[in-house]
Amino acid sequence: MTTRILFVCLGNICRSPAAEGVTRALAGDADLSLDSAGTGDWHVGNPPHPPMQAAARARGYDLSPLRARQISPADFDAFDLIVAMDAENLANIEELRGGAGTPVRLFTDYAEGPEDHVPDPYFTGDYEGALSLIERCARGLLRDIAP
Ligand code: 4NP
Repeated sequence: MTTRILFVCLGNICRSPAAEGVTRALAGDADLSLDSAGTGDWHVGNPPHPPMQAAARARGYDLSPLRARQISPADFDAFDLIVAMDAENLANIEELRGGAGTPVRLFTDYAEGPEDHVPDPYFTGDYEGALSLIERCARGLLRDIAP
């Protein structure tokens, strides 16, 4: 059965589209349906931020087809798992929950390491560090859901 996973960050132009694209590329035969969204609406309809697209492309991930959208309460029914990039995302997602039982987790929960969030390269400028962490989180997530 298909596992539906939504990756969520603030703007949906850096971290969560990268998480979606990297996880899709690493998923192999896993039966997954992946999407991403932002808690904010500033960039709705926009492709991923060009520096993130370039850094991802250099590692073999094509993020160019992705377009930003904002998370909505309906996503709790449309997905089996919602994955947040940081604690602020997590809190904002929880505000939309209503009565749904859908699990919401931090992406870094799946990486074996000390990190407790994916730092936002839109503000830090560290696209390589973000992608390296996202790759570790994605591998851990894939091990967790499709062992
Ligand atoms: P993201 O990064 O949450 O990783 O997509 C951001 C990009 C843009 C903004 C915030 C975060 N912004 O406020 O425009």
